Formats: sequence, structure tokens, C-alpha cells
Amino acid sequence: MNTRSIGPFTVSALALGCMNLSHAYGTPPDAQQGERVLLAALDEGVTLFDTAALYGFGANETLVGRVLKPHRNRFTLASKGGMAGVTGDDGAVRRVIDGRPEAVRRNCEDSLRRLQTDVIDLYYLHRWDKKVPIEDSVGAMSDLVRAGKVRAIGLSEVSAATLRRAHAVHPISAVQTEYSLWTRNPEIAVLQACRELGAAFVAFSPVARGFLCDALHDVATLADKDIRKAMPRFSPENYAANLKLLPAYKALAAEAGCTPAQLALAWLLQKAPHIVPIPGTTRVDHLREDLGAGAVKLEPGLLARLEALINQDTVSGNRYSDQSRGEVDTEEFPDTPAR
Ligand SMILES: NC(=O)c1ccc[n+]([C@@H]2O[C@H](COP(=O)([O-])OP(=O)(O)OC[C@H]3O[C@@H](n4cnc5c(N)ncnc54)[C@H](OP(=O)(O)O)[C@@H]3O)[C@@H](O)[C@H]2O)c1
Repeated sequence: MNTRSIGPFTVSALALGCMNLSHAYGTPPDAQQGERVLLAALDEGVTLFDTAALYGFGANETLVGRVLKPHRNRFTLASKGGMAGVTGDDGAVRRVIDGRPEAVRRNCEDSLRRLQTDVIDLYYLHRWDKKVPIEDSVGAMSDLVRAGKVRAIGLSEVSAATLRRAHAVHPISAVQTEYSLWTRNPEIAVLQACRELGAAFVAFSPVARGFLCDALHDVATLADKDIRKAMPRFSPENYAANLKLLPAYKALAAEAGCTPAQLALAWLLQKAPHIVPIPGTTRVDHLREDLGAGAVKLEPGLLARLEALINQDTVSGNRYSDQSRGEVDTEEFPDTPAR
């Protein structure tokens, strides 16, 4: 497995996003399946595992902590706070963005306990809470570094300007944001800002939440609680338009001698050496397929045709709903016109 750098860490060029084992895309797999995927990733040479307090409202960290604790010295552990499940007066748990220093400290303590570790290697602010100056949230994270509870700090879904403000408080080792052929927003500014500041860029949803794997043909099959149901790109109209891109995309994958999923990941790996994609999967066969992208080399001519085929102008629908867009701080391309 090739490696890349994130702050003080050398990690496998392709990491595992663990969210899917507890959260997001319909009914998550059972704990035994989650365990199989985590251990297979370790066996295959994955040395960066990405989780968050939010995922399954703590269940994902609990799973990762239980399964990977015996192997703690073999990998870099990344988690996130500042957005977590909070129990309301009615007893229901809801997702809350809270970047106040006391919340960040509390989230971190909870994560350490669930992860069964003394220190989280890379700790992200999952969302910038716009009611709290970024300097205050990052200041609290910097205190966590000084206290030995966290080794390095990251941010998620922030603009280049916010990254620079945060970096002035404490070195930012990584920015984690959605990036794939169909979500090019980081190309506006944040990829370059990361390069300048020496931060890694961790690309989430790198296979477009299944779209670029040719894995989802009918959005009517999505379970009610699948988060893609609220994403404009996965609305029946937009998705039907997006599916029309796939035959040409699959032809490019065949030309490159790889699978569609591998093409999406190989493209990211070749875009820049400071990019670390974190695909998520609930299946060991998909995991092995995704990791195979590390061996795929794409010729410049094919890269150019790929980028012309799938980009913000050819894709239908925004990546996020209006509510989710309000919660992120990233530079976004203008709305895609309705087709
Ligand atoms: N910072 C943030 O705000 C944020 C937000 C979202 C995600 N993340 C992180 O990023 C990670 C990855 O993102 P993601 O899960 O949203 O999107 P993704 O990795 O682009 O896509 C995951 C989807 O693709 C499918 N898939 C993956 N490999 C496949 C293959 N080889 N063949 C067929 N289907 C395949 C998975 O289904 P199967 O289970 O069937 O393989 C799953 O439905 C998450 O696990 C999480 O750690 C971070």
C-alpha cells in the first residue's frame, strides 16, 4: 500500500471511512459484519480509520474502539467532535452542531471513552459552528493537544478563509471535505490553501456515495432513513439525468483497466499528493476493490476526458439540501440549473 502524510503521520494512501458501518445509508450492517470490514481493512494495510462522535450517535466509535483496540499501535485514529447526538427533554437524540469550547472538550472526552484509547491521533471539528468564532473552537482543540488527549487537529467542510484563521491559532494537519469527480468545490480554493499550509486534504464521499461505483440504479430502492434521500442529486429527476453519464464513465474505466469505483479513487489519488481519499463500505469485497485503486495509473488524455465527462456543469442537482448547505462553510459552485 502506498502512503501519504497527514501532519506527523504516515498513513495508507487509501483509508477507511467507518461511518457506513453504523450510520447513513439505510440499515447499517450488524456488528459482526462491521468487525469483519474493520479487520479486513487492517489486514489489507489500511492505516487510517475515520470515525466521528456523530456516526450512529456514538455507536460507530464504540464499534471501532472495541474491534481495533488490540491493534491500536498499527494505525492512525481519526475522529470528530463539535457535532454530536444530544438527548432532548423528550428523550429523543438529535444531531446538534456545537463548537463552544466546553462542548468540544466534552465531545472529546466522550470519544476517548468510546474509542477505548488515551489519545485520538487526528481530531477534527466536524462542522464549524458559525455562532462560535473558529478561533475559540480551535483554541479548545489546541488545549486538547497540550493535554495529550489529541495529537493533531483537523477541520471539516471549511472554506480557505476559515482554514487560514484556524491555522493561525494552531497548525491544521488536515481538512476533510467532500471531493470526487462530481463534487469539485475544493478545487475553488481549499485544495490550494491546504497545499500552501502543509495540510492534507482528506476526501470524503470519494465514490460519490455509490454513484461512481455503478452501484445504485434506482433511487426508489433507497430506505427511508438513507441520507441520500434528502440530497438533490439523488432525487428521481436529477438521478435519472446523472445516470446518463454512467455508460461513458464505465467505458473510461474499462479503457483504464479498472472498475468504476477504482477509477473514481485513482482520479483523486492522481490529482495531488496531499489528497487522502476515505471511501466507506459495509462489504469486504468492495473494500478490497476500492483499495485496488492504489495500483491504477491514469494517462493524461484519459484524465482530461474523465474530467470533461463528470464535473459540476454536467451533474444534475446540488450535493446538499438547503439546510445542509447552510451548515457548511465551503466555497460552492453556483446552483446547477434544473434540467
Ligand atoms: N466529514 C464529513 O462531514 C463526512 C461526511 C460524509 C462522510 N464522511 C466520511 O467519509 C467516508 C466515506 O464517505 P461516504 O460513505 O459518504 O461515501 P462514499 O465512500 O463515496 O460511498 C459509500 C457508498 O459507496 C458504496 N461503495 C463503496 N465502494 C464500493 C464498491 N467498490 N462497489 C460498489 N459500491 C461501493 C457503499 O456501499 P457498500 O456498503 O455496499 O459498499 C456506500 O453506499 C465515511 O465513511 C465517513 O467516514 C465524512
